[in-house]
Amino acid sequence: MVINKICCIGAGYVGGPTCSVIALKCPKIRVTVVDKSTERIAQWNSEKLPIYEPGLDDVVKECRGRNLFFSTDIETAIKEADLIFISVNTPTKTFGNGKGRAADLKYVESAARMIADMATGDKIVVEKSTVPVRAAESILNILRANKKPGVSYQILSNPEFLAEGTAIDDLINADRVLIGGEDSPEGQAAIEKLCWVYEHWISRRNIITTNTWSSELSKLAANAFLAQRISSINSLSAVCEATGADISEVARAVGLDSRIGPKFLQASVGFGGSCFQKDILNLVYICECLNLPEVAAYWQQVIDMNEYQKSRFSAKVIESLFNTVTDKKITILGFAFKKNTGDTRESPAIHVSTTLLDEGAKLHIYDPKVEPSQILEDLTHPSVTEEPEKVKKSIEIHSDAYTATKGTHAIVLCTEWDEFVTLDYQRIYNGMMKPAYIFDGRKILDHEALMKIGFQVQTIGAGRLSYGRSWLHPSLATLLLQCNKVH
Ligand code: UDX
Ligand code: ADP
Repeated sequence: MVINKICCIGAGYVGGPTCSVIALKCPKIRVTVVDKSTERIAQWNSEKLPIYEPGLDDVVKECRGRNLFFSTDIETAIKEADLIFISVNTPTKTFGNGKGRAADLKYVESAARMIADMATGDKIVVEKSTVPVRAAESILNILRANKKPGVSYQILSNPEFLAEGTAIDDLINADRVLIGGEDSPEGQAAIEKLCWVYEHWISRRNIITTNTWSSELSKLAANAFLAQRISSINSLSAVCEATGADISEVARAVGLDSRIGPKFLQASVGFGGSCFQKDILNLVYICECLNLPEVAAYWQQVIDMNEYQKSRFSAKVIESLFNTVTDKKITILGFAFKKNTGDTRESPAIHVSTTLLDEGAKLHIYDPKVEPSQILEDLTHPSVTEEPEKVKKSIEIHSDAYTATKGTHAIVLCTEWDEFVTLDYQRIYNGMMKPAYIFDGRKILDHEALMKIGFQVQTIGAGRLSYGRSWLHPSLATLLLQCNKVH
């Protein structure tokens, strides 16, 4: 096989880790990751990488300068490469046709145009970014319409299934690699070349090849299914809170059915991240465009339920704090959308914080990996506030959980960082205003122990906790009383 050089356009959460692992596993292939952002490339070439991902530093240290390079010289990298990954961002459109739902393909298009401008020789172009079904066709149209003599292209779809926080392990021990391509001899030959790259460490039976559109749709479908499980369990968490059932017990009982399985049944304050919401909105938009309104409405519910969960949790915090949080100091523990990442895209912590700020709360925020500048940017963004200066005055960002909780009325735990489980909660309690509240949006703390210390504890999917028993919703208590009277 003749893949000697790979270029990856986009040095983000997908391109960076993916190409680092390819370089690690394929020492004879020269991998160059390029980006239009000089700052990002400088970070990739520095001691402090632009993204936090367990295990990534070691892989980059081993390969950088050997067969892994980070560069802003896009033209040279494209010219030299046999295979080019497009790993640019595909955010949801914020204006125009499909606003708020369709994927914005402007970065993919500009990457395709750059390739068309700069490429010489035969190139395999691989879309890695999650894209709407049939996006490969658009890339191909751009490339073939601008084709220079002596240049030929094959387009493949090779969606990335890594999850942030476990990216390196997901890449090294991938459940499957999916490659979609044209059903022509040239298309099949290109698929084989990409298979050969992955076969350096992935068994051939875990490499699935399909047509391009199946591959594109499979990526959207996988994310939609995962998100649907979370929305399903979160919907039932509301029922638990109203009845005294416990969602962890329900999830365990349901997940032990081998047909269902235990993963992605952790009730939470809601899912975040750059993929789930974006991809489902994209799926909904595609269904509407295909005149499949019932299918669109079905998937839209997964998003609606997630919004409901975030709002419900925020409302519960306010209601418990005597229906007012004006001028109350509240600690936000965790700002990333999940543990082991510094990424805050669509983080439920943004929703919770914004709701509390709107109600006049003063927030003391701590996250082990999110940069303070990122928290500030997220909470002062025009999409969440019209009063950025007021917000700035209402938030303090701390460098540890103890200073972040000192003198506050309540702790709202938004991210399931391991270090939050082992904090000295007696020390924290001693430093807080009383009554001291904890709202565990991730169900990771030892609630009994916290209540013994004196905390008022509330969590997702369990009635209001008092020491030794759970709380029954008043409407259900009345209902039961009425039933008893009748019988
Ligand atoms: C996801 C997919 O898992 C991955 O395959 C795809 O390539 C990109 O999108 P990611 O968003 O990085 O990955 O993380 P994931 O672990 O899927 O978590 C997404 C969100 O769901 C997080 O906010 C997480 O906290 C939440 N979640 C996850 C739950 O609330 N409950 C669960 O049981 C699992
Ligand atoms: P993802 O999570 O999909 O990896 P990121 O936003 O983390 O998304 O990364 C995408 C990267 O792609 C960014 O660093 C951005 O600067 C880069 N990028 C976008 N368009 C281009 C382009 N036309 N040429 C080079 N880099 C690009």
